[in-house]
Amino acid sequence: MQDVSVLPLWRCLERRGGPDYYVTEYFRVHRDSSPEKKILRSVVDMSGSKPVMAQMIGNDPKHLVRSAKLIQEESDCAGIDVNLGCPAPKVCGKAAGGALLKNHELIREIALSLRPVVSGSLTLKTRVGFETESEFDDLLALFADLPIDGLAIHGRTVRERYQSAVHVDCIARAVEALPFPVSANGSIVSVKTALAMLQRTRAAGLMIGRGGIRNPWLFAQIHDAVQGQNPFQPTLGDVGEYLEELTDEVAAEGDFGDKGQLANRMKKFANYIAIGVAGGELVDKLRRTRDHDEFLSISREYLTGSELFPEEPEEDGKLFCGAGELLAGKV
Ligand SMILES: Cc1cc2nc3c(=O)[nH]c(=O)nc-3n(C[C@H](O)[C@H](O)[C@H](O)COP(=O)(O)O)c2cc1C
Repeated sequence: MQDVSVLPLWRCLERRGGPDYYVTEYFRVHRDSSPEKKILRSVVDMSGSKPVMAQMIGNDPKHLVRSAKLIQEESDCAGIDVNLGCPAPKVCGKAAGGALLKNHELIREIALSLRPVVSGSLTLKTRVGFETESEFDDLLALFADLPIDGLAIHGRTVRERYQSAVHVDCIARAVEALPFPVSANGSIVSVKTALAMLQRTRAAGLMIGRGGIRNPWLFAQIHDAVQGQNPFQPTLGDVGEYLEELTDEVAAEGDFGDKGQLANRMKKFANYIAIGVAGGELVDKLRRTRDHDEFLSISREYLTGSELFPEEPEEDGKLFCGAGELLAGKV
């Protein structure tokens, strides 16, 4: 995830179990691009602990091939993933990311061009359509034919961005139809939602973004639950420690001119972590902080003690939504 799936976060996740593998934020690929050094470093640094897939976004097979070669030369990534899902207007406006879902021939050409040069796994990250999920059957027919090793499906259309329930049935159909492993993504915010997604789709794996930033124990909790063990339940105090540790990691990585810049950087993470705590009071206060000291003192005031951290975030339609429908079996 752009700006949030970064090495400081990954280090904090790893100390709490972490996922089985990581996927980088995307390398932007175009005529004049070279792989971003900061993202490359995250692959190099994390690859000693866990496999890391390097994700690229772009639409020119020639330059995607060039970049894939460079990324593999300069890191020991586990493979290359291509983004077919980003809904940002500046990305789709350049016919990349989610906009590629409108050009099946180009998706095929990209996969066929990359296959011979990718030594590890070659995977795609898709949505269930650009305008509507009725496009998904044609997409499935396309994916089934491609020389890829796996597919992660964010179960929303590009138009739905992040503000809808996920189309769980589409993911389940993909799991049935495709000859390679499918990972389910979207609305997985807790053990219960993870188990519901696995049960409904039979997916080979889960891809988790925002829910794992909010609750860095989530990956270990899901492993435990799947094995029939009782998952660890973090307290508000545990979450406070995590946020402080993350702040230290972020501060150590970046060149922050003043304490205001560090606080602003931390707000990107805090939005996900603090949502719903004290009825929304904490996130509101953190968003208004002007410097790092104020940020820390407010988070220490709320994120302390042995009260359990809520298992699920508050659904607010923007940051987190769709979990309720998933749990109720309505999607
Ligand atoms: C701020 C932000 C940045 C994102 N950046 C990326 C990205 O670089 N690559 C990608 O494949 N998906 C990206 N996504 C999408 C997420 O990977 C994921 O598909 C989506 O948020 C739904 O899953 P979640 O509910 O587990 O977060 C981003 C999402 C957000 C909110």
